[in-house]
Amino acid sequence: MNIVYLNGEFMPVEQAKISPLDRGFLFGDGIYEVIPFYFGKMVGFTAHIDRMINGLAAIGINFDWDHAKWRELCEQLAKKNGGQALGLYLHISRGADNKRFHGYPENVQPTIFAMAFAIPIPEQPDKSTRKGYALKSIEDLRWQRCHIKSTALLGNVLHFQEGQNANCQEVLLYNEKHELTEASASNIYIVKNGVVITPPLDHQILAGITRKLALDILQKDKTIDVEERIVTLTEAQHADEIWISSSSKEIAPITILDGNPVGSGKVGDVWQQAATLYSQHKFDY
Ligand SMILES: Cc1ncc(COP(=O)(O)O)c(C=O)c1O
Repeated sequence: MNIVYLNGEFMPVEQAKISPLDRGFLFGDGIYEVIPFYFGKMVGFTAHIDRMINGLAAIGINFDWDHAKWRELCEQLAKKNGGQALGLYLHISRGADNKRFHGYPENVQPTIFAMAFAIPIPEQPDKSTRKGYALKSIEDLRWQRCHIKSTALLGNVLHFQEGQNANCQEVLLYNEKHELTEASASNIYIVKNGVVITPPLDHQILAGITRKLALDILQKDKTIDVEERIVTLTEAQHADEIWISSSSKEIAPITILDGNPVGSGKVGDVWQQAATLYSQHKFDY
């Protein structure tokens, strides 16, 4: 059972190759389904394909196969692999661009991959022999572990693209309490009355290395006060300056927030001072 489907062809799994620039690999930017198949029949085919089509639409992947086309693929895949009980795995990623950039690429074909794997044949329900499972209860943190620099970046990609759609280079993210967290690929700072303020590190924020270096450089220099504390969206709307930071952008000034000027609407003096200090000291680390 090793015949897979990749971009229009069936082939042994060893021959299936995709680019390392595929956005499914780089960002987790894709949608998948697993459809159970027992003794020649699928379970819930229409519902699985509906969910997949809805998922593709939700993340803006344009791929227009209808149910009949998916059914044909699933049936051929099952036939080529044989077996009485299979999981039919379908995977569509946004495709491979020629660079790594969070925003959606233009003119890139989605990658379509499908494989089959053996699943157990369900037993007849019988409470006298059936063993129960054990559960542990834990808080649901699935998309909230932002402190982990994971390649599962779909949430970041979707937010970044919202910024692109609004002709912005980044987005300012806030939580349900309207407290700033970070940006989709950068950390965030505001400046008020000469003080640089940035949200404290927790699970909502990636501990950026540029942030770490910048705070250390500013704290050693002592000419600019720095605070790590909760910053509200309202404070950002009334800030004198806003900056973002990342390894590729270093410290970057923001002059427009939601169409309004930040402070004077010009790149600020505190940014000038901080960015200069950063460029002077970054190689000390
Ligand atoms: C979500 C997020 N926050 C912050 C950063 C900035 O981190 P660093 O300064 O280490 O590049 C990044 C960089 O990729 C990021 O993806």
